[in-house]
Amino acid sequence: MTPIANMSVYNDGMRKSMLDKIWFLDKIDGSISTIYDYGCADGSLLKMVGEICPSMKLDGYDISQEMIDIAKQNVPNADLLSTDPKSNLHNAVLNASSVFHEIHAYSPDVEWDYRNIFDSGAAYIAIRDMFYSKHSCHPTNPISLAKVLQRENPDKISEFEAFNGGVDQ
Ligand SMILES: C[S@@+](CC[C@H](N)C(=O)[O-])C[C@H]1O[C@@H](n2cnc3c(N)ncnc32)[C@H](O)[C@@H]1O
Repeated sequence: MTPIANMSVYNDGMRKSMLDKIWFLDKIDGSISTIYDYGCADGSLLKMVGEICPSMKLDGYDISQEMIDIAKQNVPNADLLSTDPKSNLHNAVLNASSVFHEIHAYSPDVEWDYRNIFDSGAAYIAIRDMFYSKHSCHPTNPISLAKVLQRENPDKISEFEAFNGGVDQ
């Protein structure tokens, strides 16, 4: 997983696009009674889904026990795990939001993660993610760079740069 230096800065950033992240909610049918959030982080998405769909069972898995501890505070009614991902899901939507790129960057066993997701038995798998290619690397537009440096927390920029290289590219 990402080496996260400041968990609250990281989770504040993740929460910002929450409305986009629940894009799948109006696309699943009425038989779905469970949402299983794979890479649930601090549980913000589960919390929002629980508010919108109060009868939905809320399940979450994250490889980080630290995240799961925070999620348990945020969503006490959810079933949250950092080991033994669920299988044999029924009437469930599995959500994988911004997780595939982390699996590919850090997982010691990508196929194991893929099996956990695609062999979970979920009726729906909702994926939202982005990957970028080294071929698309070019100098950052100076105005965009200035906006990012002004807007973002320096810790977040350092964390990003430690893994991805300078934001000037
Ligand atoms: C970029 S965050 C996305 C969090 C949340 N899904 C969202 O969209 O706001 C990635 C999350 O995936 C978790 N993660 C990374 N690798 C994982 C893996 N192999 N299995 C499960 N969770 C993983 C991280 O701990 C982190 O909480």
